[in-house]
Amino acid sequence: MNLAALRVGALHVEDVALEEIAARFGTPCYIYSRAALTTAFEGYRTALHGRNALVCYAVKANSNIAILNLFAKLGAGFDIVSGGELARVIAAGGDPAKVIFSGVGKTRDEMRTALQAGIYCFNVESASELEQLNEIAGSVGKQAPISLRVNPDVDPKTHPYISTGLKSSKFGIAFNEALLLYQRAAALPHLKVCGIDCHIGSQLLDPAPATEAAGKLVALIERMAAAGIVVSHIDVGGGMGIRYQDEHPPTIAEYLAPVLKALDGRKEKLLFEPGRSLVGNAGLLLTKVEVLKLGAEKNFAIVDAAMNDLIRPALYDAWHDILPVTPRSDSPRSYEIVGPVCESGDFLGHDRELALREGDLLSIMSAGAYGMTMASNYNSRPRAAEVMVDGDTMHLIRRREEIAQLFAGEIVLP
Ligand code: LLP
Repeated sequence: MNLAALRVGALHVEDVALEEIAARFGTPCYIYSRAALTTAFEGYRTALHGRNALVCYAVKANSNIAILNLFAKLGAGFDIVSGGELARVIAAGGDPAKVIFSGVGKTRDEMRTALQAGIYCFNVESASELEQLNEIAGSVGKQAPISLRVNPDVDPKTHPYISTGLKSSKFGIAFNEALLLYQRAAALPHLKVCGIDCHIGSQLLDPAPATEAAGKLVALIERMAAAGIVVSHIDVGGGMGIRYQDEHPPTIAEYLAPVLKALDGRKEKLLFEPGRSLVGNAGLLLTKVEVLKLGAEKNFAIVDAAMNDLIRPALYDAWHDILPVTPRSDSPRSYEIVGPVCESGDFLGHDRELALREGDLLSIMSAGAYGMTMASNYNSRPRAAEVMVDGDTMHLIRRREEIAQLFAGEIVLP
């Protein structure tokens, strides 16, 4: 939430004024801070100091190769869910040997490519995937390193769309079926059992559910060991929440402390798959007020960013702080902050008290995670530019999409 600070009356990220970024690269524009990304990663490093642990950044949260490159240089591994994400990691200089591959529907092509790249582990999510992976590994003359994503049936107490560890969820393997499936995996010639994993949900503010899940994994590992199946790593997933509004998330060290306690004394390597907590509060979305439309019922501030740029408010009713880049002393009004897309669900914030004039810049905070990666071209809107601030320097890390790119792959009938 504190990514941008007011300095001489205008918001800055690190030492760069947001107005300068808008003047140079236009709006809407995602802006990230190198220092904030680094600090977030260091939070994990400090909390895990002295342990045999690997932080695998969940690429889906923000997959810009400049961000992946930064985390790779800091020593991160990566949690991917598609061949596209693997290609990004490799293009960004990430080490495939530190990549884990999650997801319920890996295609055979994706399995083959990941095997050939030499990834660290496949997080397998079904009995059928296990058989397919064995077959593909055999066909390319490799042994696939595998972990089973176990569903510990723990309620993460978060938004239903981002809860993944309940019995009713499409993710993971039922807890009481895992041992049998591990035995099957151990018997397959082209698989090598190497880990166990779970991921119970996202934006978790209380470490209790993750701690309970870690305890369940340990109990399962002990039953597996009795059956002669040994793993070399335990992956407890991601999910640590951040502050968007008035939440009080624990620090990374506070969140991890009870989880690590549940894993105390284990010799296996520990893996984590954080996404949001590494990038969420290291990014914002800069937008310009195009039109003010005052009405008897509601006042609308129509801005140049929309649900296609940041879908979280429309999809999850998520709250993002919205700050004026240059605060005015005029008396504020309540505004609906909306985009130009032709949907009533196209809003970025309801009922925000702001003093606005047309042409003003607004900063939509906490937009570093699941912002740009969930952006679309709905209404044939080109996707935003992305900029990384580093001290007093701004770097364009993704050019604004051009109109011609929108239909470059489309073909009219002969
Ligand atoms: N590992 C797996 C297997 C996951 O499915 C996810 C997120 C993560 C790790 C990273 O979770 P995080 O640390 O970011 O909470 N679009 C939603 C969030 C979807 C999360 C999907 N899975 C949002 O904007 O809130």
